[in-house]
Amino acid sequence: MKALIRPVRRIAGTLTVPGDKSVSHRAALLGALATGITEVHGLLEGEDCLGTLRAVGALGVEVTRKAAGHYLFQGAGLEGLAEPEAVIDCGNSGTTARLLLGLLAGQPFAAVLTGDGSLRRRPMDRVVGPLTRMGARVIGRGGGRRLPLAIAGSRPLDGIRHVAPVASAQVKSAILLGGLWASGPVEVVEPAQSRDHTERMLAAFGADVEVDGRTVTLRPGRALTGRNVRVPGDISSAAFFLVAAALAGDGGVTVEGVGVNPTRTGVLDVLAAMGADLAVAPAPAAEEPMADLTVKPGRLRGTAIGGALVPRTIDELPVLAVAAACAEGVTELTDAAELRVKESDRIRALATELAKLGARVEERPDGWRIDGLGGRAGRPLRGAAVSSWGDHRLAMALIVAGLVAEGETLVEDIECIATSYPDFVPACRRLAGTGCVEVVQ
Ligand code: S3P
Repeated sequence: MKALIRPVRRIAGTLTVPGDKSVSHRAALLGALATGITEVHGLLEGEDCLGTLRAVGALGVEVTRKAAGHYLFQGAGLEGLAEPEAVIDCGNSGTTARLLLGLLAGQPFAAVLTGDGSLRRRPMDRVVGPLTRMGARVIGRGGGRRLPLAIAGSRPLDGIRHVAPVASAQVKSAILLGGLWASGPVEVVEPAQSRDHTERMLAAFGADVEVDGRTVTLRPGRALTGRNVRVPGDISSAAFFLVAAALAGDGGVTVEGVGVNPTRTGVLDVLAAMGADLAVAPAPAAEEPMADLTVKPGRLRGTAIGGALVPRTIDELPVLAVAAACAEGVTELTDAAELRVKESDRIRALATELAKLGARVEERPDGWRIDGLGGRAGRPLRGAAVSSWGDHRLAMALIVAGLVAEGETLVEDIECIATSYPDFVPACRRLAGTGCVEVVQ
């Protein structure tokens, strides 16, 4: 499928975005491991999280869908998961694969995981290494580096102190989950703060978790207790409309009920540094802070993104590259080599596709130098045929680019949007007019 995008002048309205992808995965996994019922509201029904739901079902957990985003998990308890009968397919989802590996490391049975072409290319050694040191046995492609992988768990696992070379919430979470069946504490030391949803939710479910600076420790021995989880709106999905609203000629967009956990709000810091007209109004929340976010059109200027800001902004960098391409002045992204091992090589993919739209992007090993076109008269980008590389965030970022470009843009390969935001195109139409995005075969 392709999307034909016609440029618009005005992007305006109020919307809510689907539930946070990271929080949804964790709610399903902890709900599966808890004793008693976990009731989740706002769970993201995108392909990635549906994969996690199927996986916990394959491990014997009863999952009931009450309504859109409203689910009940009849938890199996830490001792109650069942051996899966077939290979578990994690689809496109790195979070499903890596967090499940941590959970499976502590089970007294074996399981096999695979994924789609993109996921089978992505590195798994970053979790397989520490989990093997804890006592799990893993075999798979490339000496256990790539899916498909078979994992035979062990109980109890050994405790570990893992000093992570890159800030990765998936690695941290896999180790913490494995730690639930360890004989002693597991400790993860990160070079920079990655998203902390797992620590927050484990603590809320009753686990013994301690955070001290960049070190997270889980002490095993406590059961998890089922509870209610309210999933906030996904700031990574909101980001597309925040940038679209900033770049539009007229209007303004409010996204209500967005998760604003400080480990995720780099996009707000970057937009503020670029001079965006942005307002953050705190909203009532539970474990995860929430806010209503409003952006109005305005001139953006280039900025620098690097260091500890990168893990806080990581999934929003594709759409921020679009903002940078349309801004006045230079934006430099450094310390972001991780982008090369996401759903696509996002450094190369964005540099290639944005160049087709007339942007000036220099690809670097760990980021980009983007020479913004914003100083020019008229619309900075010009429409062209571009490809998503099968990557949902690229597809949506390129649709945003098309909305603010001169002339029509064709974005190829847009099925992948269902990974994280199945209703993205209808949401665009609501804010920018029904004619702005047409889906063609
Ligand atoms: C995620 C962590 C990040 C992020 C991904 C979701 C998570 O990946 O890019 O989309 O839910 O833990 P890394 O752990 O590889 O940094």
